Amino acid sequence: MSQLSRPSGSTRLDSYVDRYAARTQGMTASEIRALFSVASRPEVVSLAGGMPNISGLPLDVVGEAIEGLVRTAGTTAMQYGSGQGDPRLRDQICDVMRLEGIEAHPDDVVVTVGSQQAVDLVTRIFCDPGDVVICEAPSYVGALGVFKAYQVDVVHVEMDEHGLVPSSLREAIATVQAAGRRIKFVYTIPNYHNPAGVTMSAQRRPEILEICREADVLVLEDNPYGLLGFDEEPYRALRADEPDGVIYLGSFSKTFAPGFRVGWALAPHAVREKLVLAQESATLCPPSFSQMAVSAYLENHDWVGQIKQFREMYRERRDAMVEALDDMMPPAARWNVPTGGFYVWLTLPDGLDAKAMLPRAVTSRVAFVPGTAFFADGFGAQSMRLSYCYPTPERIREGVRRLVGVIEEEVELRETFGTGLHAAAPPGLTRGYDGPTTDLT
Ligand SMILES: Cc1ncc(COP(=O)(O)O)c(C=O)c1O
Repeated sequence: MSQLSRPSGSTRLDSYVDRYAARTQGMTASEIRALFSVASRPEVVSLAGGMPNISGLPLDVVGEAIEGLVRTAGTTAMQYGSGQGDPRLRDQICDVMRLEGIEAHPDDVVVTVGSQQAVDLVTRIFCDPGDVVICEAPSYVGALGVFKAYQVDVVHVEMDEHGLVPSSLREAIATVQAAGRRIKFVYTIPNYHNPAGVTMSAQRRPEILEICREADVLVLEDNPYGLLGFDEEPYRALRADEPDGVIYLGSFSKTFAPGFRVGWALAPHAVREKLVLAQESATLCPPSFSQMAVSAYLENHDWVGQIKQFREMYRERRDAMVEALDDMMPPAARWNVPTGGFYVWLTLPDGLDAKAMLPRAVTSRVAFVPGTAFFADGFGAQSMRLSYCYPTPERIREGVRRLVGVIEEEVELRETFGTGLHAAAPPGLTRGYDGPTTDLT
């Protein structure tokens, strides 16, 4: 067996520490990433990660499509491609977006390496250090990571059970603009929000668009979960009613498979041109092979039927989680019942701190993501994100049972040792989306 050793003279200390660009100071491992190594142990029920459950995919169909692709178009699939993305796939992407009321031209679509790269490219072309981006409170940890890396200042705006709160958005825009600062865009996840699990109501959408139009602020609509509603038709995208003021991001990660890393941005024409330039400098082109594989899948398989199956599978898991929470959680905890997507946002009884609780939870073989991961400013300590997408319903129930055990222990400790237990938790713990006001238990 070969023994890998470090070259002599190498050290675990980073000798480049004083040479990195200032922007790397914002690049820290997300709380989710640090968790993955622990949470992936088989004995731990992970309610932490947001991995789509792709066990239901017809691997034989996908395999045949990929085999056919290599046989009939292998030299194109394995070659460099266009910086904007494969024209046939861009055409098919327009069909996908039509399900949400978007009428778009394939020329305005840029294919990206997952929608994560689209967030990065949009930020790259719009944001200078010190610019402001407005985000929901809480917001997607991967986007917050991008904003940090580009030294953007995030201003969080309240959500309630109907999504972004219009009056809070108006107020935040006015405050930032009055301070003479530039808001580059409002980043929103309108459907089955990650991590809050809420959906922007249809009534609220025009109001949000109107506020942004009036203030001349661009909207970045990130929508990887839009087709994963459990009981409802897809919501009309914000982009469908505001082609010039919205950049829309989509992804095949949740409706097909994340391993292909195919997502896209639909942007006003001039912005699209800049995005292609940014894409070319980042990757030359998105991977031809992945794009053509996705394209072949869309062409040869009943992808709409497949999404329906995914929705049913996730609905069953959502039900298992909500039922388990209803049965076992102490009454002082609050959570929402998502109508689609992967996530429940749970707020703990007063005085508990999810992050401080996490090591004990992992010892009890259950994992979650503490709410602080989803805020740029240290809030969210009393909350956590619970994902139901990946484990089986039985494991979800077992995970909730373990979690409840940990919470009850924490409550007991708190009663024994008093309020000083988590003195490090910031004040105003539950600012932002604080769960529904009605008692759902
Ligand atoms: C809100 C949101 N945006 C973007 C992404 C990135 O997805 P991908 O890069 O796989 O398309 C995710 C993944 O979880 C997400 O939840």
